Amino acid sequence: MKENSVYDCHIIPLNKIHNRAGNITVIEGNNNIPFEVRRIYYLYDIPAGASRGGHAHYDLYQLIVAAGGSFNVLLDDGENKKIISLNRPDFGLLIVPGIWRELFEFSSGSVSMVLASHKYDEEDYIRDYMDFKQLKLK
Ligand code: TYD
Repeated sequence: MKENSVYDCHIIPLNKIHNRAGNITVIEGNNNIPFEVRRIYYLYDIPAGASRGGHAHYDLYQLIVAAGGSFNVLLDDGENKKIISLNRPDFGLLIVPGIWRELFEFSSGSVSMVLASHKYDEEDYIRDYMDFKQLKLK
């Protein structure tokens, strides 16, 4: 997690099966994304101006998809920062372990779907930015 940088995080184009009645996008763990999916959660009903995240993880891989609407993701490895705009349900943002992230500028009615490599574990969170910086320096 220490050596991972924002450049290890990238957009993964997903498939889109299109027909007259709409689209389907399929995500299969260890197939079109590089980890097995053990948990899915989604953020919705996000009030205007709110931001989410504001933490890093020791071991967790995540894929964030704008299942509806749009929002921005700030990635920070302690040295470099990158802002990614998500606005399509057929693209996912891979976030590797050891990256501080903040989600912000959610459009009204947006849905942020997150696929995660592990079940929820508070011990895997780094919630203090100064602690995060220290860990990345060691
Ligand atoms: P948190 O990860 O801090 O939210 P975000 O990164 O979106 O701002 O989680 C918010 C609350 O939800 C916190 O009390 C922990 C709880 N939670 C779970 O119980 N299970 C989960 O899988 C997640 C992601 C959060």
